[in-house]
Amino acid sequence: MMEAIFHYYEEIDSTNEEIKRLIRSGCPEATVASAGTQTAGKGRRGHSWISPVGVSVATSIALYPVHVPTEKIPRLTIVSAMAVAEAVEELYPLKTQIKWPNDILINNRKICGILTEADASNNHVNYVVVGIGVNVHHRSFPPEIADMATSLDIELDRLRQQSSAPDSSSASGEALVNNIPEQASRKAVTEAIWRHFLYHYERFEEKAGSLDSILSGYNERLVNKDRQVRILDPKGEYEATALGMNSEGKLTIRLADGTTRDVDSGEVHVRGLYGYT
Ligand code: BTN
Repeated sequence: MMEAIFHYYEEIDSTNEEIKRLIRSGCPEATVASAGTQTAGKGRRGHSWISPVGVSVATSIALYPVHVPTEKIPRLTIVSAMAVAEAVEELYPLKTQIKWPNDILINNRKICGILTEADASNNHVNYVVVGIGVNVHHRSFPPEIADMATSLDIELDRLRQQSSAPDSSSASGEALVNNIPEQASRKAVTEAIWRHFLYHYERFEEKAGSLDSILSGYNERLVNKDRQVRILDPKGEYEATALGMNSEGKLTIRLADGTTRDVDSGEVHVRGLYGYT
């Protein structure tokens, strides 16, 4: 089993950029860079990503997936999402949900962001960097994302309050409260994410980019499963029932006329009928 090689920086521009520098200096696969804070953290679509000092996990990994065709590389974001879900559930008594394709939610709010960057030439992948940011110790969020974001500590607090509420059955409630850590650990979360990721990555790599190894766990957590969703297709929006993700990472949906179809996250977005999920 492949094991991660960890590097930690109190402060860095971006852990994705640091991994690219390490790749240029010839680092082995599964080299990981994590930071206490990033001064130029990057989000998707050119956005910036804020990592306040000591509050979040900001971590990236170097990959050389030689057996995976370039067009299947974006699926690594789905593998990463699964690893975050498994890591959180291994460490804490929290239940995660997945919003296709790669949003990890707790109580319907996002706890992480994933940025996958690849370098390819002549249809051959030279390297991939997967970067993951997890909200860990945040107690609040800026108003524009407050409805959509949460952190592990907020969710642990919520769980503790629920379990100690007078109406929760006292014996089991007390036992549960004693099992809920005061706060989450950035180090433990980072280590668990990459352990789960590398387990699935090895299978993904060997099977040339098949998502078979994560499929059942992924679909068990799929928040939209068997629910009505709105498909935001640039060619025209419509409603359908989400049935599950297939081994190509596409979402299988059932249309009003009973036919099914697989949609690609590169082409459409999915919204719940009432709000974000
Ligand atoms: C998103 O926009 O949702 C993706 C955010 C990805 C943020 C992480 S934090 C670690 C890594 N380093 C970066 O600069 N970005 C990613």
